[in-house]
Amino acid sequence: MTTRRTLLAGAAALAAAPLATPLAASALAAPSRDAAGPSLNDLAKAKGMTFGSAVSAGVIAGPRRDPRYTALLERDCGALVCENETKWVALRPDAQTFDFAAADTIAAYAGAHDMALRGHTLLWHHPDWFPQWLTNYDFGSRPATEAERVLSDHIRRVCAHYPQVFSWDVINETVDAQTGALRDTSLSNAMGQRVLDVAFHTAREAAPHAQLVYNDYMSWEAGHEAHRAGVLRLLEGFKTRGVPIDALGVQSHIGSGNQDDSVGFDTAQEREWRKFLDEATGMGLDIVISEFDVHDKNLPADPVVRDQAVADLGRRYLDLMFSYPQTKTVMAWGMYDPYSWLQGRWPREDGGAKRPTPFDAEYRAKPLHGAIADAFRAAPMRTALDITPANRN
Ligand code: XIL
Repeated sequence: MTTRRTLLAGAAALAAAPLATPLAASALAAPSRDAAGPSLNDLAKAKGMTFGSAVSAGVIAGPRRDPRYTALLERDCGALVCENETKWVALRPDAQTFDFAAADTIAAYAGAHDMALRGHTLLWHHPDWFPQWLTNYDFGSRPATEAERVLSDHIRRVCAHYPQVFSWDVINETVDAQTGALRDTSLSNAMGQRVLDVAFHTAREAAPHAQLVYNDYMSWEAGHEAHRAGVLRLLEGFKTRGVPIDALGVQSHIGSGNQDDSVGFDTAQEREWRKFLDEATGMGLDIVISEFDVHDKNLPADPVVRDQAVADLGRRYLDLMFSYPQTKTVMAWGMYDPYSWLQGRWPREDGGAKRPTPFDAEYRAKPLHGAIADAFRAAPMRTALDITPANRN
């Protein structure tokens, strides 16, 4: 078995090298559309994996539709996930209404282009992301019963509407990143933390063929110890109680400036991260890279240097994650810099636009695109997850 040791050694060598190595401008050929090379999903598929991206309905239809962007998605993606359109805030304007219009745009587009659909998320169990009406909901004289009704009704309706979804983020971000404790919301106040188990059981009934995922943003970084421990506790609890969960979603918003100022992993952090992944996979769970991007908040302004640092970190991270045969799905959180959610958050000190995705503002493939491609090329083969709609429900 050379793989793990070689990977560790390789990662260690890379970790020792400064990320912002200046490159001669000529070292990077001017990126062009054609420089994108083979489709990322074709490379993924050859190893038993799927590559895809988050997308917003607005780029597919309506006044802001962007055919140049959708052409990139069609070329590189085997799966799509709604960036916001299947969250409660989007689907549920009020307690009675389900508004599927925007999410339907994405689902129809994916279907028409032979792309599978991931689901995000049946319950973002975080009080900041609840719709106002749900936060203020009057659960009446039997709050536990009413909360369970509201929750399971939502999950049943949404799963039934999208039977083609091959993988659902059932619960998103319920572990407090600072303390590792479970977050409280109006639902958990009404029915207790049983809310989490009920969500998974209901999802299994309503989407019996979908992979069921717990999704969160814990990472290897210093300061994430409590978060990692809390997530493992949650997963162990699920397993002990026989809750139907199939995979851990690792959001993978990697890079600088998101949680703290660290730009990479040193070997001690990497060891901790592997320990965490070993424990999760040891519970029989698959791994989903569910929201991949590489934050460049604190990287040098020079785009050549910055893009290379982003690509290097992305490559090291994916190599590590792909060394686990349980990693079968990689979803980018957007493919085109100007549309990245990171543009509006955690601004760079120089005020410059961020470059966290595989394509730049001119729709040209960046080094990160090549790094993802190379990581798929280098990945060991694994047993594929069945994502074909025909096998759903
Ligand atoms: C983000 C979207 O990208 C933004 O457009 C929106 O304003 C907020 O949510 N973790 C998650 C995703 O699970 O749902 C988040 O998506 C990014 C962080």
